[in-house]
Amino acid sequence: MTCTRDAPAIREIIMKKNNTHAPEQPTTDFIEDRSAVTLSIKRLGPGDESILELLANEDSDFDLKGRGAPLDPLNPTKSRRYLENPAVIHWVAVEDSVVIGHLLCILLPLRAGEGQELLLYEIGVGSSWRRHGIGRALLAHMEIWMQKNCVGLVWVLADNPVAVEFYRACGFTAEKPQPVYMSRDIAADKTKI
Ligand SMILES: CC(C)(COP(=O)(O)OP(=O)(O)OC[C@H]1O[C@@H](n2cnc3c(N)ncnc32)[C@H](O)[C@@H]1OP(=O)(O)O)[C@@H](O)C(=O)NCCC(=O)NCCS
Repeated sequence: MTCTRDAPAIREIIMKKNNTHAPEQPTTDFIEDRSAVTLSIKRLGPGDESILELLANEDSDFDLKGRGAPLDPLNPTKSRRYLENPAVIHWVAVEDSVVIGHLLCILLPLRAGEGQELLLYEIGVGSSWRRHGIGRALLAHMEIWMQKNCVGLVWVLADNPVAVEFYRACGFTAEKPQPVYMSRDIAADKTKI
């Protein structure tokens, strides 16, 4: 497959179960017929502020039971900046006009080698839609994007046992030795002063 850098934000590919390509559609870049659902996958871009807001408001439904909570939506300026950022690769899975899953990746520039890799920052499927292949379809879509954009490696920090099973089932492997995830909350430090 030929690599195409600077591909348009919204790809107009239609993929059926048998992998035959059908005519393009305006805002949908992936459609997969499954026995239960007809799924379309779309990359977010400018104009999708309302979808971002919905994802923030309904965060608990896309996260582990008991872990998520409604998030503060970005204000209009931050929302626009986020959606315009070419390093933000954020897809939503839509069934019958309802957002039922999303996958957020960040394109990381590297100082050597291939020059870029993908961080799979977040994936969530609506609680009532799990085990229908939505997560797998989102990752398959990401892989097509990676091929087209010459990105060879994707990595993720899986933070729960179901996620580990899911990523394994989708071809990810755990590196050895495992790195230690560390963070520092500068804002929290300031409040202590
Ligand atoms: C992880 C998550 C995105 C998976 O989405 P999904 O749409 O349910 O996954 P799929 O139906 O595509 O599953 C693909 C494969 O992953 C594995 N898998 C998925 N859920 C699993 C579970 N609960 N237990 C064991 N294996 C599981 C299976 O091998 C499955 O294939 P199968 O259904 O044919 O057996 C979803 O469970 C989720 O949103 N969890 C909450 C948020 C989260 O934890 N995100 C990851 C943070 S790192």
